[in-house]
Amino acid sequence: MVLELKQKSEATSIYVPEIAAITKVEQMSPTEKLFDIKIDNPESQKAFDFLPGQFVELTVFGLGEAPFSIPSSPNNKDYFQLCIRDIGNVSGALHRMKPGDKIGIRGPFGKGYFPFEKMKGKDVMIVAGGLGLAPVMPLIHTILEDRENYKRLVIIYGSIDPENILFKEEIEDWKKRDDIELCLTVDNPDEAWQGEVGVCTNLIPGIDCSYDTYAVVCGPPVMYKFVVSEFEKKCIKPENIFLSLERRMECGVGKCNHCHVGNKLSCIDGPVFSLWEIRNLKEAI
Ligand SMILES: Cc1cc2nc3c(=O)[nH]c(=O)nc-3n(C[C@H](O)[C@H](O)[C@H](O)COP(=O)(O)OP(=O)(O)OC[C@H]3O[C@@H](n4cnc5c(N)ncnc54)[C@H](O)[C@@H]3O)c2cc1C
Ligand code: FES
Repeated sequence: MVLELKQKSEATSIYVPEIAAITKVEQMSPTEKLFDIKIDNPESQKAFDFLPGQFVELTVFGLGEAPFSIPSSPNNKDYFQLCIRDIGNVSGALHRMKPGDKIGIRGPFGKGYFPFEKMKGKDVMIVAGGLGLAPVMPLIHTILEDRENYKRLVIIYGSIDPENILFKEEIEDWKKRDDIELCLTVDNPDEAWQGEVGVCTNLIPGIDCSYDTYAVVCGPPVMYKFVVSEFEKKCIKPENIFLSLERRMECGVGKCNHCHVGNKLSCIDGPVFSLWEIRNLKEAI
């Protein structure tokens, strides 16, 4: 009986959102806002442990649910953040919300995450495009909070234009550090722009790296094939190349079959995969 009850409560819990409050909203770009979120139950908030690359399912009550990556540091236990583009029903409703408004949170979900432990003692190169910076932010936080245990950190970030660059405050901090090799590029520069112009892929050939560099890519789907090809030209091992593969998700927990990447499910096997894991799945990238 006890076992039955335990199984029931465990089975129920993955589908039942925790009530949480939006505590701060910041406009990051014309289309993205950054939300600080705190789970109402203090014990649940304290126990909210996630790994870089995991995501949550966020409910706007009466409207629906959608998956979002967690860009804040896993070491921040007081609250977590979500960077959300206003693109549809749930995200549009969120963009109209204010501090104090309540939402639902399920998760964190995803088995696959960026292997920050294995990256220790190695060079790490992160290539992100547009909103793709959000899922890799916790990896960057994790490396910077333990900086002496990693070798070089290269961050290549591309955006449509300077106005749409996300996490501008963090990027300004990175510019001041001499232990980050930061390359920023935009498609459409303005007069004040001092960085590179063009797609991120163009910058990879100029980066010095070895076969055991860890390389990460996250961005719009069109970018993966080209970035991975550049990584391969650098002879980076496929087991050291990591991709965040987002699919249209519904349940987030492996039940609805909406998020197939070949014979894998992005929500429970990913959303982060190594190139080695998906090497035979033609439709993956
Ligand atoms: C693991 C993961 C992490 C993510 N992280 C983030 C993040 O950090 N920030 C962020 O902003 N987004 C993120 N997303 C994307 C986000 O979940 C989607 O954009 C989601 O659809 C937003 O929900 P919505 O209700 O606002 O939009 P929807 O109303 O679902 O519409 C979103 C877009 O999808 C189109 N669409 C609607 N239904 C379908 C359909 N059946 N098939 C194809 N297209 C359809 C719409 O026309 C619209 O352009 C992530 C997705 C995944 C899977
Ligand atoms: S989102 Fe339902 S199985 Fe992956």
